[in-house]
Amino acid sequence: MKLAQRAAQIKPSATLTISAKAKALKQQGVQIVNFGVGEPDFDTPQHIQDAAVEALKKGETRYTAVGGIDPLKDAICRVVAEDYGLRYGNANVLVCCGGKHALYNLFQAVLDPGDEVIIPSPYWVSYPDMVQLAGAIPVTVACPEETGFKLRPEDLQEAITARTRMIIVNSPSNPTGVHYRRSEYLALAEVLAQHEDVIIVSDDIYYRILFAGYEWVNLAMLDERLRERTLIVNGVSKTYCMTGWRIGYLIGDAGVIKAANTIQSQSTSNPTSIAQWASVAALNGDQQIVSNMARIFEDRCKYVLGRLARLQDITCPCPAGAFYVFPNVSRYYGREYAGQTIEDSLGMADFLMDKAHVAVVPGSAFGEDRCIRFSYALSMDDLKEGFDRIEKALALLA
Ligand SMILES: Cc1ncc(COP(=O)(O)O)c(C=O)c1O
Repeated sequence: MKLAQRAAQIKPSATLTISAKAKALKQQGVQIVNFGVGEPDFDTPQHIQDAAVEALKKGETRYTAVGGIDPLKDAICRVVAEDYGLRYGNANVLVCCGGKHALYNLFQAVLDPGDEVIIPSPYWVSYPDMVQLAGAIPVTVACPEETGFKLRPEDLQEAITARTRMIIVNSPSNPTGVHYRRSEYLALAEVLAQHEDVIIVSDDIYYRILFAGYEWVNLAMLDERLRERTLIVNGVSKTYCMTGWRIGYLIGDAGVIKAANTIQSQSTSNPTSIAQWASVAALNGDQQIVSNMARIFEDRCKYVLGRLARLQDITCPCPAGAFYVFPNVSRYYGREYAGQTIEDSLGMADFLMDKAHVAVVPGSAFGEDRCIRFSYALSMDDLKEGFDRIEKALALLA
């Protein structure tokens, strides 16, 4: 059947494709070590599960307000006041079916055909496609390993045109794990302050998974001039191991929130009622579990960096948070084993899948073909096993 142009131009998410390939091999009995997944490997904490069961029992099973229940909006405002030092009211909050949906609604609400959106690259896979779905033009700006995978003010300045409507920043980042220091953000803020029509999207989904010694800040917190035009995207998926519950939120200008709410009202309506009540428990409950999880990821990160350091031809900037590393494997390109030459990141991902039974995501999916992405949301045993296999497989290419 003929598809709409809109559907034809959108690529399926590469991360999901790799996970599907790993799953298919697993079903054939192959033991895959899957570094492809983008979610914590821990269960949703018990008290959050209990809150969902209680909500069910209490009959919280009907439509809620389109943009979310007030107790959840209250909790979001309280957390943002504490963690960001920024005051918002419930009219500034829209609860959506995940952070991804928050971004989607936002883009639909504010982007017009022909608008340009600056996306520092490497970027999270979904940004360019979601921008395109809104009819706008993704303008990727290369932030290579040499700049620590971070946008420099001079590159930002050069990318801004009269048609620039938005910039998306994500710190700590998927896929690199790097984050912006206060001074780095202040320098970007100085450029953005000169361009009053540019909306800033701060994707803070990994902000609580930050390693010791790093300070988390965002642009709205740092520069008052940017505050009113910054839209914050966050959610419970990564922080509380709730990826399947599908609760994310958009915070910012009440007019934008109202428009995004209207879009949501004509598509999904409210996010799942039970998941909303579980999210209230997540935000209002014990936060020690979050720092415990961050410490575990930090230990794993150290281990992974140690293993990568043993591989002479790989370099990798040190992450500040999240649960990803994004090593540069391009020194292997052009090398060959048994008639198979590694040409690019997809070739490397395929080689590792075939020879090491290890799943990674090719960097091309994130706009940087010299790298591959590892998620270390895996047990220490799996990490060790995976890197033992990788070491052996890469030795074949030496
Ligand atoms: C950078 C980034 N933003 C947003 C999301 C969306 O997460 P969710 O829709 O589960 O809230 C993800 C998920 O992988 C992500 O990595």
